[in-house]
Amino acid sequence: MKFQRPKGTEDLYNQQSVLYSNIVNRLVTVAKKFNYQEIITPVIEAAELFLRSIGTTTNIVEKEIYQFLDKGNRMLALRPEGTAGVIRAVVENKLYTNQKQTQKYFYCGAMYRYENPQKGRNREFHQFGVEVLGTKSPLLDVEVMLLAKTMLEELTIKDTILHLNYFGSEATKAKFNQAILEVLQKEKNKLCGDCQKRIAKNPLRVLDCQNCSKLDLKLPLIEEFYSAEEKQYFQELTASLTKLKINFKADPYLVRGLDYYNGVIFEFMSASTVLGKSQNTLIGGGRYDNLCQELGVPHQYPAIGFAFGIERLMLLLEKQAELSFMQPLDLYVASIYQAGLVEILSLLADLRKTKYFVDGIFDLFNDKQKSNLIKNLKNSNNLLILEEQGKATLYHLTKKQKVAVSYQNEAELLQKVVKLLG
Ligand code: HAM
Repeated sequence: MKFQRPKGTEDLYNQQSVLYSNIVNRLVTVAKKFNYQEIITPVIEAAELFLRSIGTTTNIVEKEIYQFLDKGNRMLALRPEGTAGVIRAVVENKLYTNQKQTQKYFYCGAMYRYENPQKGRNREFHQFGVEVLGTKSPLLDVEVMLLAKTMLEELTIKDTILHLNYFGSEATKAKFNQAILEVLQKEKNKLCGDCQKRIAKNPLRVLDCQNCSKLDLKLPLIEEFYSAEEKQYFQELTASLTKLKINFKADPYLVRGLDYYNGVIFEFMSASTVLGKSQNTLIGGGRYDNLCQELGVPHQYPAIGFAFGIERLMLLLEKQAELSFMQPLDLYVASIYQAGLVEILSLLADLRKTKYFVDGIFDLFNDKQKSNLIKNLKNSNNLLILEEQGKATLYHLTKKQKVAVSYQNEAELLQKVVKLLG
């Protein structure tokens, strides 16, 4: 039987895996500068966690969740996103606090959604996300968006547009939902089958539907339902964005595919044609002030966060040589005499205690193979060939020079090689 990776998954190797870890390293550095700490949670969680937090009428839960009964008859799911698991961990480990103190977490890992695979849309994909807990302020909202923007800049990603919408409180969102529902019930015949079924439970999903969002349904605008306090919150938020020179586009029909949001929601979209229209969202996020309490925090515990799709970043950065640059070795060691093979083992062990990046091969070479190795060796600046007891040659491959090395014992060989590497 020939095994293949499951549909919608990827193998990353060579330049691709270098690019992946360079992206993650840069994101981690920026997150740490903003005082975020890493949180690591399981890939599997109780399926109910996702139904409760993401919402039963969302595409993710209705169509895309990977769930299964384990041998102990527990219904588990592979996480489709990171937020629910982080909040579950915050509740379970009582990481919340009554003090005025903001908790800032970042995470990175594989997520799973049973999607129709296409460029930038996989069944297994990786997110880098952040969650900030314990504070509700338009200034914090802006700082979180600034973090996202700084991360994009750190990755040298240009031409992104920040789309923004503001739902206000749950009560405001509920009034808006009701007003939309009234319009949608009148226009029900125009809607797709999925939306017809779910409008009663979740009318906002229509705005997120590939087909129905394009219909001219003359829906009301959320801002018609803001209280005076909410108007002020949103004004302060947009004024602070302007002050920090963060360009944004207010989009009153922007909705997110997860139900836990209230307050501000946002997406950074790429204007590049590489990703295609449906996959051009690089970052999605927003405020979700009620989720912590719903999942068990005994008091209101407001929160906001966002997540990047790393595969989408990789597609945009594939041609960025600097980010997929593979660090060459300082030295590669081979032998054309049998007893040299064991010398390689101890020489490499000693060299790895120094600053050098080294490797070698334990297959014996003959003269012809030796010349091929000298011509074709990739990814090492130098090559050492052990030729016989007490004799070796160091080839400076980049400089195209060679130096004969004679030595009495292994300690002397090590000393001479280190000197020649400089
Ligand atoms: P999301 O919008 O579902 O939000 O996903 C965030 C990002 O993950 C997307 O913008 C996209 O870049 C990437 N992504 C999503 N699905 C796929 C896929 N099938 N293939 C490749 N990339 C994908 C969330 O997951 C929220 N948990 C974000 C958040 C954190 N909100 C608050 N805190």
